[in-house]
Amino acid sequence: MKLMVVGSGGREHALIKKLRENPAVETVYALPGNGGMEGEAVCVPVKAVDIPGLVDFACSHGIDFAVVAPDDPLVLGAVDALEEAGIPCFGPDKKAAIIEGSKVFSKELMQKYGIPTAACRVFDDMNEALAYIEEAPLPIVVKADGLALGKGVTVAFDREEARGAVIGAMQEKRFGKSGERLVIEEFLEGPEVSVLALTDGRTLVPLSSSMDHKAAWDGDKGPNTGGMGTVAPNPYYTEEIAARCMQEIFIPTIRAMAAEGRPFKGCLYFGLMLTKDGPKVIEYNCRFGDPETQVVLPLLGSDLLTLMQAVHDETLAEQAVCLKDGAAACVIMASQGYPLSYEKGFPIEIPEALHPYVIVAGAKKEGGKLLTNGGRVLGVCAQEETLEKAVETAYQRTEQIHFANACYRHDIGKRALAAKEK
Ligand code: AMP
Ligand code: GLY
Repeated sequence: MKLMVVGSGGREHALIKKLRENPAVETVYALPGNGGMEGEAVCVPVKAVDIPGLVDFACSHGIDFAVVAPDDPLVLGAVDALEEAGIPCFGPDKKAAIIEGSKVFSKELMQKYGIPTAACRVFDDMNEALAYIEEAPLPIVVKADGLALGKGVTVAFDREEARGAVIGAMQEKRFGKSGERLVIEEFLEGPEVSVLALTDGRTLVPLSSSMDHKAAWDGDKGPNTGGMGTVAPNPYYTEEIAARCMQEIFIPTIRAMAAEGRPFKGCLYFGLMLTKDGPKVIEYNCRFGDPETQVVLPLLGSDLLTLMQAVHDETLAEQAVCLKDGAAACVIMASQGYPLSYEKGFPIEIPEALHPYVIVAGAKKEGGKLLTNGGRVLGVCAQEETLEKAVETAYQRTEQIHFANACYRHDIGKRALAAKEK
């Protein structure tokens, strides 16, 4: 079979590694992929958001199945266009991808169907939003309605910061059209959990829970990033909480989407806050998380391609999905200065024996050498019987990988391990 994976980051590299476990897979094309995928995928220089380009490539190369991984092509309708051209795909269509594409949509969906989430108000007038900020309880969370490269959320601890977020989005147009409408919502407290679930619109199967580490520096300090490391499963997510989430959040969400005429097929990502009043949704993503995928897929004991095809065919209920015991950890090695400014173009040295555990995100191949080419350069993964051991192994491996200006957090999994000891 010939597969195509749309996207270029660590999530896509992790998906490609897992898809290749199926012996029927002959070739995987990555559009555009990255330099670290060599030997596992053929990288094709078509941008993920170039929808006519994706369709042309798929049709002219006899692609049997396509996986569209990033949010922007999904929200732009890449799956609709590929399916229309006769290419079976994994991923939600445009109508369903709006669950991530518009926070106003997702908040209204949750309110309408009684799915627990933070109380909020929606604004499309800046002065009204600013007036609300003056009287709202602090801290307060300001969110751009549309996609904003993961930068559209401000958790403001004082009014000045909240005003800045409103003005940045609505007057300075920091997020373009995405910030023309804002959701201003209640601050929730509690441990955060990510749950990635496969769903064909009727059946939903959660994969292992995970914990992301979004702050750039140790101790959860510093600016917000796309994620500096992950562990799975998340020890805060007990069986009891999982059962509650299934009943109060997951199933109601897919039923609500179906009832709205927007059945969701693909990977639905639930960003949850385990508050003292029970689990609540912070955000939905219409796709696999990055770097959650890097720890969740190694713990999947079933064949990923088979499950993705079942999602496409709406036969997920017939599949047995097996999750492995044990735990996984991923430490992100970034370029010093990320997520602000950083230099790139430095050679990366990875010992041969570690290749299976390294998921490459921001790197390119030049003259046969792998060079850093982004903020998050690579993820170093480990899977072991216990979380403690997985974290230890991931760090042992990290120490053997070298590039100039490399930096990483030293406390990935620390909070999860502390929770386990309680
Ligand atoms: P997002 O960019 O949507 O992933 O949000 C970034 C981060 O903001 C989340 O991972 C949370 O830590 C935080 N966040 C979002 N909404 C809330 C909320 N209502 N209360 C507290 N923290 C929040
Ligand atoms: N790791 C968070 C995300 O993928 O949105």
